[in-house]
Amino acid sequence: TANKKLLVLPGDGIGPEVMREVGRVVGWLGRERGVRFDISEDLVGGASVDAYGVPIRDEVVAAAKAADAVLFGAVGGPKWKDVPFELRPEVAILRLRQELELFANLRPATVLDPLVDASTLKPDVVRGLDIMIVRETVGGIYFGEPRGIEDLPGGGQRGINTEIYTTSEIERVARVAFDLARVRGGKLCSVEKSNVMESGLLWKQVVTALGERDYPDVELSHMLADNCAMQLVRNPRQFDVIVTGNLFGDLLSDLASMLTGSLGMLPSATLGGVLPDGRRPALYEPIHGSAPDIAGTRQANPLAQILSFAMLLRYSLKMEAEAAMIEAACTRVLSSGLRTADIMSPGMARVSTSVMGEAVLRELEKKPT
Ligand code: NAD
Ligand code: IPM
Ligand code: MN
Repeated sequence: TANKKLLVLPGDGIGPEVMREVGRVVGWLGRERGVRFDISEDLVGGASVDAYGVPIRDEVVAAAKAADAVLFGAVGGPKWKDVPFELRPEVAILRLRQELELFANLRPATVLDPLVDASTLKPDVVRGLDIMIVRETVGGIYFGEPRGIEDLPGGGQRGINTEIYTTSEIERVARVAFDLARVRGGKLCSVEKSNVMESGLLWKQVVTALGERDYPDVELSHMLADNCAMQLVRNPRQFDVIVTGNLFGDLLSDLASMLTGSLGMLPSATLGGVLPDGRRPALYEPIHGSAPDIAGTRQANPLAQILSFAMLLRYSLKMEAEAAMIEAACTRVLSSGLRTADIMSPGMARVSTSVMGEAVLRELEKKPT
């Protein structure tokens, strides 16, 4: 069979720094597991603005559509704060999500045992945590029309964004979440603000109906988004799978990242629907951004990017064994006491981005005993 086609888009800031460490894992797959890829790499975000005047070129979008999977780093940074709004670096990821119809963003938050002390919450609250946030990513207030900034007749302006969700948009992302709940802990919590927003009310009705119709075996609950933020800090282990819209999912997943110790630990997968030819578009990226505050200092934690690649192997290439080996290697490295700055705690050894990446490779290369 032909090599799988991967499109690698490192982006800006720490994006290329953490992506470099994935290269070591790709090398190991080739040497030890006989897995070879056709990898192409391109510029996105601010790097593309600098080189081509746009955050992403049409041909990169086309390459993403043709690839078996896309591995994305991060985009954005203060260098591009003055480019026109429609050309800002972040448009690269928004456009990829939209044009590939990547509507379901899976953001797992798991607390690895060696990192129990890295969370800002008490160990007893987070130990063993394993939740999955499913964030809708092509609808909601991110994309609804009308939008813009308008002049008001009497002077001053108004900024407009519109939250819209249709029945089918809600159903397709809820289905992904129900399916995950079924093979995990059997519980799904749907999060909206149906007390304030009609889009939230429809969300709740559609998820409820779908649950009754197709997923009677999954225990469905509903929670208002503000309460959910509080509950995630108070008692995060009450959750199994959470499904929510674009904006709430963005906020709640950054919040959940700190339960695990660091934003630098959390991977994600963004999946589209199955196409008529059987392929399923997918993009994998850490949930963190380009971290301009630490870019170039060799402090970035590469584990979220490496774990995103593991998710790529699992979901797009059905290489569960290799995905699990990579995840286990990351856990063993942490057990051995190595820490990047973001997860540092007393008595541990502080290491750079590349030393962390090398350590993961070394663990992978250890022969099973
Ligand atoms: P950020 O996620 O880049 O950083 C937030 C904080 O977390 C920073 O203090 C940073 O140093 C730290 N951090 C993030 N990743 C880390 C890692 N791997 N290791 C260690 N520490 C890490 O968020 P921000 O600072 O609000 O945004 C910076 C830029 O990134 C903005 O332009 C934003 O739009 C963009 N952004 C892009 C993406 C994406 O490409 N998908 C996601 C989020 C933010
Ligand atoms: C994320 C980011 C993006 C989002 C930005 C960069 C457009 O914060 O992937 O979480 O808001 O979706
Ligand atoms: Mn975000």
